Amino acid sequence: MTDQTKPLAHSTILALETSCDETAAAIVRDGREVLSNVVASQMDMHQRYGGIVPEVASRQHILSLPPVLLEALSVLPGGWNDVQAVAATYGPGLSGALLTGLNAAKALAWQRGLPFVGVNHLEAHIYANWLIPEVGETEVQPEALEFPLVALVVSGGHTLLALLQDHGDYQLLGQTRDDAAGEAFDKVARILGLGYPGGPAIQQAATRGEGGEALPRAWLRDSYDFSFSGLKTAVLHKVQDRRAPAANVSPRHRTRGRKPRATLPPAATSPGLPSPATDTPSASSKLDPRFTAQIAYAFQESVVDVLVSKAVEAARQFSATAILLAGGVAANTRLRSELTRRAEVPVRYPPIWLCTDNAAMVAAAAYYRFDAGVQSGWDLDVLPGLRLGM
Ligand code: KG4
Ligand code: ZN
Repeated sequence: MTDQTKPLAHSTILALETSCDETAAAIVRDGREVLSNVVASQMDMHQRYGGIVPEVASRQHILSLPPVLLEALSVLPGGWNDVQAVAATYGPGLSGALLTGLNAAKALAWQRGLPFVGVNHLEAHIYANWLIPEVGETEVQPEALEFPLVALVVSGGHTLLALLQDHGDYQLLGQTRDDAAGEAFDKVARILGLGYPGGPAIQQAATRGEGGEALPRAWLRDSYDFSFSGLKTAVLHKVQDRRAPAANVSPRHRTRGRKPRATLPPAATSPGLPSPATDTPSASSKLDPRFTAQIAYAFQESVVDVLVSKAVEAARQFSATAILLAGGVAANTRLRSELTRRAEVPVRYPPIWLCTDNAAMVAAAAYYRFDAGVQSGWDLDVLPGLRLGM
C-alpha cells in the first residue's frame, strides 16, 4: 500500500469480490449507499462435486465477471464516467479465485486512470455494518457508530473477535482453533442429512427442536479463542448411537468394545458443501425428524451461547460502544436475538443479503481506506492466507 495525498471525500466506488464461490460486483456511494449489488453464486455447480473445486471456481469467475460487472454498472447514468475509484478483495480466500477479481479490478482501474485499493475480505464483512440498512433492521445506525467497537466475524471460513480502535485499526482478540462456526453448521447439517447450506437448514430444523438434551460448549477459559470441532464430534457420536441399533449392532458388543472412531460422511474439499453420498435417503432415513430437530436445536444453542458470551465479555473488557456482527453466520436469527438480548451495549448487524459474500461490503471498506489516503500499487498480489490487521 502507498500513501496518497488526496483523499476522496465523496466517491462512487466500484468493487469486485471473488474470494470463494460468489462472483460479485457493486457500486456504493460515499461508503454507505448501495446503488447496485450483483452476486452470481456458483453453489449449484460445486454441489455436483461435493465441495468447492478451486479450478472450477476460478474459471466460473472469469465467465461470470463480465455480465456481473455490466449489470452493476448499469445503475449509473454515466456508466464508467461516474465511477471514481475501484476496489477488489485480495485475501483471504482461494488464490485462483482471488486472482480473477483482483486482476480484473486492477486492469479496469489502470485503463480508466482511477485510484485502486485492495481490501481484506474479513474487514469487508465488518464494513457491511456501515452500509445503510433496511428500515428497522438493527438497533444502531451506521452514522452513530463510535470507536472502540468489538466485531464478531462468523463465516464459513473464519470465526474471530476483533477490537476496532479506529477505521483500519484492528486488534485480533481471538479466533477459532479448528472449525469456523459456519463450517461447523455445514458439517453438522451434513451429518444430519439436512443439505446445504447448513446454516439456514439447521436454523430451520431447530425451530421444532426445543426440549432435547443439551450439547457441550468449549469455553477455552481465559481466552477469546473458539473451538467447534468437539461439538461437531459430539453430534456425530449421538447420531451414530442413534443409528447403531438399526445397523444391527448388539448392545453387548457396543458396550464391551471401544466406540468406533468418529468419522464424518465423505468430506467436501471446503467447508460446507455436502457430499453426494450424504444426500441420499439411506444416509438420513434412519434419523427421525424429532431427533434431528432436537440435535439441530442443541447444536445451535451451543454455538450461539459461546459466541455471544465471548462477544459480550470482550465488549465489557474493552469498553466498546457497540458490538458489530458480521459474516454469513450473522444471518442466524437466534444469534442475532441472543446477542441483542445479552449485550450491555447496542448490537449492529447487516441485513441478511449483506451478511453473506457480496461486493458492496468491499466498497464500504475501500471507502475508508481511500478516505485515510491509502491506495494500492499495481503490484498488489493476492494473499490467500491474509489475516485481520495485516
Ligand atoms: O460469509 P459467508 O457467505 O462466506 C464465507 O466467507 O465463508 O458465510 C457462509 C456461511 C456458511 O457456512 C453458511 O452455512 C453460513 O454462513 N450461514 C448461516 C446462516 N446463513 C448462512 N449459518 C447459520 N445460520 C444461518 N441462518
Ligand atoms: Zn465471506
